[in-house]
Amino acid sequence: MVCTAGIALLGCGTVGASVAERLLHERDAIERRCGVRYELRAIAVRDASKPRPGSIDPRLFTNDARALVNDPHVDLVIECIGGTTQAADLIENALERGRSVVTANKDLLATQGPRLQSLAAARGARLRYEAAACGAIPVVRMLDDALAGDRIDALAGVVNGTCNAILSAMENGAEFAEALADAQAQGYAEADPSNDVEGIDAAHKLAVLMQLAFGLAVISPRVRHSGIAAVTKRDVARAQMLGYRIRLVAAAARTPAGAFAGVAPVLVPQDHPFAAISGPENIVRVVARDAGPLIMRGRGAGGPATASAVLGDVVSSLRALGERHDIARTARALEPALDVAPIFADLPRHPELPRYTLWDNTFLDAPVSHVNRALS
Ligand SMILES: NC(=O)c1ccc[n+]([C@@H]2O[C@H](COP(=O)([O-])OP(=O)(O)OC[C@H]3O[C@@H](n4cnc5c(N)ncnc54)[C@H](OP(=O)(O)O)[C@@H]3O)[C@@H](O)[C@H]2O)c1
Repeated sequence: MVCTAGIALLGCGTVGASVAERLLHERDAIERRCGVRYELRAIAVRDASKPRPGSIDPRLFTNDARALVNDPHVDLVIECIGGTTQAADLIENALERGRSVVTANKDLLATQGPRLQSLAAARGARLRYEAAACGAIPVVRMLDDALAGDRIDALAGVVNGTCNAILSAMENGAEFAEALADAQAQGYAEADPSNDVEGIDAAHKLAVLMQLAFGLAVISPRVRHSGIAAVTKRDVARAQMLGYRIRLVAAAARTPAGAFAGVAPVLVPQDHPFAAISGPENIVRVVARDAGPLIMRGRGAGGPATASAVLGDVVSSLRALGERHDIARTARALEPALDVAPIFADLPRHPELPRYTLWDNTFLDAPVSHVNRALS
């Protein structure tokens, strides 16, 4: 019998609410990309009576996450709860039943990833976790997929946006405590910021990246880490005078002598790409034997950015389910492109070199307003 793919969403907080909104309101586009039809069966939360975004049907909420995972019509479980106890239990239960699982849970992957991956393999299930390292930056896929035919020798990056936002504010003259309070007010830092400022969150992400890059069952307690809590405004100013910026860098390498890893506040030359990021951004540099160095930079956290990574995994999971099971199909087809207008036509030219258009990033960052301006 042909059916639709059933999705269970666990958690409807910062990340889960963005995922739910996309799944519910962009269904046609998502189904076109996967080639299969799906149904969001329900959303499990801790307290189903809490007010939720008005765009989500209140009848979808349930307090019973376990019953939802066990619903026989569920094929794919998306875990956006966080933590390492209930989330682990629910994911394990889903994998035991052969369900596909997508999670954003770095704490869990960094401490129990190797065990959960073995369980998934034993049950013929798939565990995907693009959002567990560096939010919207597709670094998991790059390591696990695009570079799977190469050998990764090293990777490094600024992978904790909260610390970077604090250090950036300190470069503008704030004391550590002021910068932290500001990051909390802007929603970058949690009420208890210790995981971020002590380097634990960066160690979690580094462990996840090392599992993928080096194929090693590394867990985060094995990664030596220090954070930024002892960094002073004076250190930051002095580093700047000497031509550096302080960044919380996570780095790892695999050499014939073994694996090396660590998280620490380090001095980065001011013209280095790690110094160029400010605020809550992340950056990752991967060195592969044949591909050479590759850099990705972008939003490391936040509801919509993290949901982007979760939904990429959802599309991959639904495509795979569509290939294995008799799920209702929808055409995976390109839209007809009737006309393609010249994109450089409206950009200014340099007065001294008028044959050349002046490149301006804002035009790619906001193409809709750019095109509207050109048409008006
Ligand atoms: N926030 C980010 O920018 C970000 C970035 C990358 C990765 N992540 C990861 O994404 C995950 C979710 O983070 P978040 O920021 O969205 O967390 P959050 O805002 O605290 O939301 C957690 C959600 O889980 C629900 N929940 C908690 N315990 C539950 C249980 N036992 N059963 C069912 N539901 C339960 C909560 O329900 P109530 O609403 O009823 O309390 C809430 O809806 C975490 O693993 C986090 O590390 C987050």
